[in-house]
Amino acid sequence: MKEVVKIALAGFGTVGTGLVKILMENKDWIKRRTGKEIIVSQILVKNLNKPRPIIPQSEPIFTNNVDEFLQNKDWDILVELIGGLELPYQIISKAILFGKHVVTANKALLAIKGKELLQLANAKNVGLYFEASVGGGIPIVQTLKESLCANKVTSISGILNGTANYILTEMSQQGLSFDLALKQAQEKGYAEADPALDIDGIDAAHKLVILIFLAYGEIYPFEKLWIKGIKQVDLLDINFAKELGYILKLIAQVQRESNGLRAGVFPAFFPNNHILSKVDGAFNAILVQGNATGPVVLCGQGAGDLPTGSSVLADIISLIKHNSQINNTGFKDDPFQQAKCLDFMDWECKHYFRFQVKDKPGVLSSLSGVMGEYNISIAQAIQKTQTKTKQGVPIVFLSHRAKLKQVTAAINKINEFDFILEPTIHYPIIE
Ligand SMILES: NC(=O)c1ccc[n+]([C@@H]2O[C@H](COP(=O)([O-])OP(=O)(O)OC[C@H]3O[C@@H](n4cnc5c(N)ncnc54)[C@H](OP(=O)(O)O)[C@@H]3O)[C@@H](O)[C@H]2O)c1
Repeated sequence: MKEVVKIALAGFGTVGTGLVKILMENKDWIKRRTGKEIIVSQILVKNLNKPRPIIPQSEPIFTNNVDEFLQNKDWDILVELIGGLELPYQIISKAILFGKHVVTANKALLAIKGKELLQLANAKNVGLYFEASVGGGIPIVQTLKESLCANKVTSISGILNGTANYILTEMSQQGLSFDLALKQAQEKGYAEADPALDIDGIDAAHKLVILIFLAYGEIYPFEKLWIKGIKQVDLLDINFAKELGYILKLIAQVQRESNGLRAGVFPAFFPNNHILSKVDGAFNAILVQGNATGPVVLCGQGAGDLPTGSSVLADIISLIKHNSQINNTGFKDDPFQQAKCLDFMDWECKHYFRFQVKDKPGVLSSLSGVMGEYNISIAQAIQKTQTKTKQGVPIVFLSHRAKLKQVTAAINKINEFDFILEPTIHYPIIE
């Protein structure tokens, strides 16, 4: 590459600004790492009149016209930091067809269109790098692609959404309701005005698809993931979890089994001494089980201008340093195999149940009867005292291992009893 590397920056919001800040603050350091000067030569934004907190010294051309942005090809690397699907897809595929390297943080696009774009990039022998798409400042993409490549990965468990983790942490530590914790997350800038992607588990699911691809070289269709969000989480269950020595987290998980992959995103109880239980607030963490390394945990800031900008810049530097040795997928042979997706309902684990019931004789034996009918063995049954916020009394069961389909069938039957006052709450327990 030339002595001066020019970046075409599509999107100059949170992450774009972070990237420019680091480029300016660490200019000499980056020159020492790469031997090159990296400048931003043009920037695509939506609103040309918006005040910008920082402007690159290179005095880039600003435009809000996509055609104009793409027409001028006097740049080396496209950095896409717009978000969304259609426009980024259009810009990235055009840049690849021009024979340019691309860096993006766009997990939604990669989860849905990653295979197509990576095939195109491989065919054109250009880089399509995406370190910032999972875990913000955590270097998990490079770790799976390079550092752990000698391992067969048996499982990955991750806290991949900082907003959801912040909400659950505030509920657990400050005793806030879900609504109050969400409001607080929005006030602090962790959650969007429309937080659906975060609290419905969709954002974590996008990231999980990317991790599966990197760990196994397999495409796991997004729509085949089992996804449950945290909207229904009740403070009562968070408090019972605490009493019982657990903590509730939104987890993204994939497990390799002999006949395929089982993957999903869902809230689950973690024992207090589990390493992911210690990950609080807006932090992310990823636990990778390698068959040679055993457990490897990466933890850090999963979002924010500078952490995410750092990962974007790492990709740019990597493309500059290893320009002729592009490694988009981490696999030489057949990187895009179709994953064999196993039904999550066949997953076996321990379970937490809360039944909100009328306080009358015979309830406990009816509940236990249905559990027995579906072969679910109860490890612990606790009748709690009435709470101020709810009608009736809560009964909590912890079960031994059972398949999710047994549990679902049992809950469906139990919910039909006339003594049940609210739909039964259930969470898998991670061991
Ligand atoms: N924020 C994070 O911490 C974080 C972490 C990891 C990954 N990501 C990913 O990084 C990407 C960028 O996120 P962000 O938080 O930086 O987003 P953002 O703050 O909303 O910035 C988006 C940028 O794109 C521009 N833009 C939007 N629509 C456009 C259009 N139609 N034409 C031209 N420009 C357009 C906006 O222009 P204006 O400035 O004129 O509005 C803005 O500069 C997303 O894919 C996101 O998922 C973000």
